[in-house]
Amino acid sequence: MTAPVLQVRELVTEFPIRAGVFRREVGRVQAVSDVSFDLMPVETLGVVGESGCGKTTLGRSLLRLVEPTSGSVRVGDIEVTTADRHAMKHVRSQLQMVFQDPYASLNPRIPVRDIIAEPMRIHGVDKVEAADRVADLLTRVGLLPEHGNRYPHEFSGGQRQRIGIARSLALRPRIIILDEPVSALDVSIQAQVLNLLDEIQDEFELSYVFIAHDLSVVRHTSDRVAVMYLGKVVEIGARDSIYDTPAHPYTHSLLSAVPVADPRRERSRQRIILEGDVPSPASPPPGCRFHTRCPIAQDRCRSEVPELHTVAGGQQVACHFPVEPGQTLVELTKR
Ligand SMILES: Nc1ncnc2c1ncn2[C@@H]1O[C@H](COP(=O)(O)OP(=O)(O)OP(=O)(O)O)[C@@H](O)[C@H]1O
Ligand SMILES: [Mg+2]
Repeated sequence: MTAPVLQVRELVTEFPIRAGVFRREVGRVQAVSDVSFDLMPVETLGVVGESGCGKTTLGRSLLRLVEPTSGSVRVGDIEVTTADRHAMKHVRSQLQMVFQDPYASLNPRIPVRDIIAEPMRIHGVDKVEAADRVADLLTRVGLLPEHGNRYPHEFSGGQRQRIGIARSLALRPRIIILDEPVSALDVSIQAQVLNLLDEIQDEFELSYVFIAHDLSVVRHTSDRVAVMYLGKVVEIGARDSIYDTPAHPYTHSLLSAVPVADPRRERSRQRIILEGDVPSPASPPPGCRFHTRCPIAQDRCRSEVPELHTVAGGQQVACHFPVEPGQTLVELTKR
């Protein structure tokens, strides 16, 4: 059996809510609430959910860009949550992040060459060697070595994201967290960047945690998919299980928003519009967090927290009344 490159167990990340002149803590937001998963070598795990469900916080917690409140993150043999500075340095060489906004994530005052070389400088890579690697990386992501002398504002969004990708590769990591890497880009260049990510995954034997808003983006890139709602993973499993036999009502509603290529099926596609807004993660509903918007919720859902368990399609679902293969949510709602 191959060992996972990343193991996440019962991860919780909370933010204090402060108020008043003295910024006293008046409560806590649990942005990531008891999340567990494994990531295997050269595997892509898609992480999907609406705005505010905790995707970015999850990604940042894995690297301790925000400190997790509890739980465990293991990269190889290292427990990240308690690693000292020396061990963290090693973790950062193995685990990198590409950010959503290529405009905000690159320092405008530093030439691209130094942006890409920065992780190498921190890790003590020899200057000549670093300069060589920068030129290679620029070429590899579809730019030119002489682009290294320019500043971020001289590049388009797509090119900036390529620069961010080059920087993430500088230390030859094993895992990259991609936080909505194409959602800030023009639709016309999204596919190019997705192709680049696909190519370098094989070439550098990378594992990806691929964060996205909706299920259409990760369909073709993911081996497995995790669906998040209000800080929790509500469904996780093989890509085909999630798309072909989704079991959580929330996954059904997300999928109903994705257009399908087959025109006949597209015409009969029934959109499920969820009622109400996403509740605040500062005061999540009791029981199943989704029950306030779930079209098939019952009494039990309002009081008892559903645990993840394996269902007929092979995936794991946190729902008391999972949708069975062949059933549609629309038909269940009418009952
Ligand atoms: N630094 C912070 N301080 C306080 N609360 C925060 C902080 N960062 C995030 N949150 C809260 O944590 C929750 C999760 O936010 P997060 O940014 O992780 O969601 P997301 O799924 O990435 O959303 P989006 O799709 O909009 O990027 C939100 O309620 C957000 O307001
Ligand atoms: Mg985010």
